[in-house]
Amino acid sequence: MVSVTVDNINIKISSKSTVLEACHFAGVIVPRFCFHKKLSIAGNCRMCIVEIEKFPKPVSSCTLKVSNGMVIYTKTPLVRKAQETVLEFLLINHPLDCPICDQGGECDLQDQLNFFGSDSSRFFKFKRGVSDKNCGPFVKTIMTRCIHCTRCVRFLSEIGGNNSFGMLGRSSNAEIGLYISDNLRSEFSGNVIDLCPVGALTSKPYSFKGRSWELINYKTIDILDSLNSDIIVSIKGFDVLRILPCFSIYNASEWISDKTRFFYDSFDFFRIKKCWSKQLNSFIGWSLSLKIIYNQLKKKKNLGFFLGSLVDLETIMLSKYLANSLGSSDIYSDFNTGTSANLDFRSNYSFSSFEELKKADLCLIIGADLRSESPTLNLMLKKQVTEGSLTVGYIGPSTDFSYSTSHLGLNVNSFISLLQGKHPFSIFLKKSKNPHIILGEKFASVNILDLTYNLVNSNLIPNLNSHNIHTLRSKSSSVGLSELGLNSLRFSKTFETLFLIGVDDLQPYRVSNPDSFIIYVGSHYSVFNLEMADLILPSSIFLEKDFKVINLQNIVKENKSLRKISGDVRSEYFLFLAIISLFNNKLDNLDFKKSRFLDCLFSQEYPFIFKKNFKLSDFNVYTSNKRLIRKEIFHRSIFNFYQDNYLLRSSKNFKLCLNNLKQVKFKKNNVV
Ligand code: SF4
Ligand code: SF4
Ligand code: FES
Repeated sequence: MVSVTVDNINIKISSKSTVLEACHFAGVIVPRFCFHKKLSIAGNCRMCIVEIEKFPKPVSSCTLKVSNGMVIYTKTPLVRKAQETVLEFLLINHPLDCPICDQGGECDLQDQLNFFGSDSSRFFKFKRGVSDKNCGPFVKTIMTRCIHCTRCVRFLSEIGGNNSFGMLGRSSNAEIGLYISDNLRSEFSGNVIDLCPVGALTSKPYSFKGRSWELINYKTIDILDSLNSDIIVSIKGFDVLRILPCFSIYNASEWISDKTRFFYDSFDFFRIKKCWSKQLNSFIGWSLSLKIIYNQLKKKKNLGFFLGSLVDLETIMLSKYLANSLGSSDIYSDFNTGTSANLDFRSNYSFSSFEELKKADLCLIIGADLRSESPTLNLMLKKQVTEGSLTVGYIGPSTDFSYSTSHLGLNVNSFISLLQGKHPFSIFLKKSKNPHIILGEKFASVNILDLTYNLVNSNLIPNLNSHNIHTLRSKSSSVGLSELGLNSLRFSKTFETLFLIGVDDLQPYRVSNPDSFIIYVGSHYSVFNLEMADLILPSSIFLEKDFKVINLQNIVKENKSLRKISGDVRSEYFLFLAIISLFNNKLDNLDFKKSRFLDCLFSQEYPFIFKKNFKLSDFNVYTSNKRLIRKEIFHRSIFNFYQDNYLLRSSKNFKLCLNNLKQVKFKKNNVV
């Protein structure tokens, strides 16, 4: 620790801190453009200039380390003049675009000019022109606005895994662009929009749609993967205009993937807004739909329920209740995770905590394609690998993690040879002080779980403990389904009536149940083979209802409805209550909005659900049963990153740009 004075405020701070950090610690605001705490330091803009006692001239505070007894001044006339001059230089070539600039209202240049700039300029020559670059479907460029801070370049090379963006030319010909004319090949490319302090890089889909002061920002939950990160949704009137990352301790990373950032246009596109009957071949009202369901359920008792990858905890709970109250216990998840593990133990279907994983010095990933299944978790590991604190070994189909990993093999045999000490990587496992294992969901079979848990206390990996074995689930509803004891159906069973709630493809159900009456409850027409349903009922999306989810770290997360529903769209809650009441003859009396039915149901079975951000305790299993190991081949669980579910397939942002998106390489080796 060293003692430093900032504007006559004495502070003690770590000797590794920069002068800028010391100012921040003392509560003094220093303007900056190029500095970002998550990126390396470049020292490009010189806006963070300060005066330091005994230094011959002003210095940029982000590039200088503090030393004991340093006396820093941030508001002297010399500093003010220097800041004014830096801004004057930046504006020499900056266009007068503010009225038509998408960054207007949230532009660092505008703001800092307001506080630190001069009211006149000494430059009246022509401004420099820079041609715009084609950066792909999401990022719009107006390069004359660029102030050469290189935040975008550093982000893409250090985090986004793309080295083709950089500074071309020198001096007055310097410009930011792609070395090779191409798209930004990164699944995190949209983050440069937030990072760019000016309007040089803005969002293409958001372009000219709204101004920042017209938007209302709400915090909600990302439902595209099992991490259920907090995100910000900006709404103008009824329309969602953009999605931004939210800084939260519950998130694995402060960045969001392009998938999360740009899927919002699917919320109103391709929506199912009316009930539809195949027999009548027309749209129908809710009362007729309920009558059809009632008649069907009265005569056909053999009922099956299948739940999709985006359903919330309430829907799972109510489906279970409805199935049970109609005399059925056939309720399953739609997506086949391949897991046959014992769901009595939380460790068999979730992570204990990311905090523990951050302390790992070795991570063995078995059959999990982290980059497409859980991109932000992959970023977390990437950061550790880049810092040099983590070694990653991987068994599974060949894939690009965007950081260096040791590819140890393709199937279970590689894992066995690793455990037998025959693999060169075994020595790293043995020496590791804090090893962690991540099991992919397609691979978390009983065999592998047993085998992995048998490693605990063995001398093969002496420092492995059972809390360091994690099971990755990729879908938003995965952990919730497992928590309520639901798994996929692994044997052929036929049903007379099928309720498919938010499933992604109807064909397998129609093929195995050719004569059954299929009732599909969902929100989008982009579901595969929707024409195979006998009755289609429109349901709300996550923004239009209060819901809860359990994320991969076993935290119960809650979301409030952000906008009203339109048309005949109703939440699954409405539908299930209506059906339940049909059989109890209480339909007319039921107050759907104020009903406390769901609360009662939860408080009876899961009282902890009411606690916000409540973390469920871990249950670990340690089994010693030795089972026969099959020669399992690892499959991918996500084949198309941008088209993985019906919401993504309804997005024009992804649909119109498919050809461009194909260039974001997730190597497609289905089975190796
Ligand atoms: Fe105005 Fe900022 Fe846009 Fe420049 S980048 S035109 S200062 S809003
Ligand atoms: Fe900085 Fe934006 Fe220019 Fe990139 S495009 S260097 S982020 S101003
Ligand atoms: Fe220090 Fe740019 S913020 S030089």
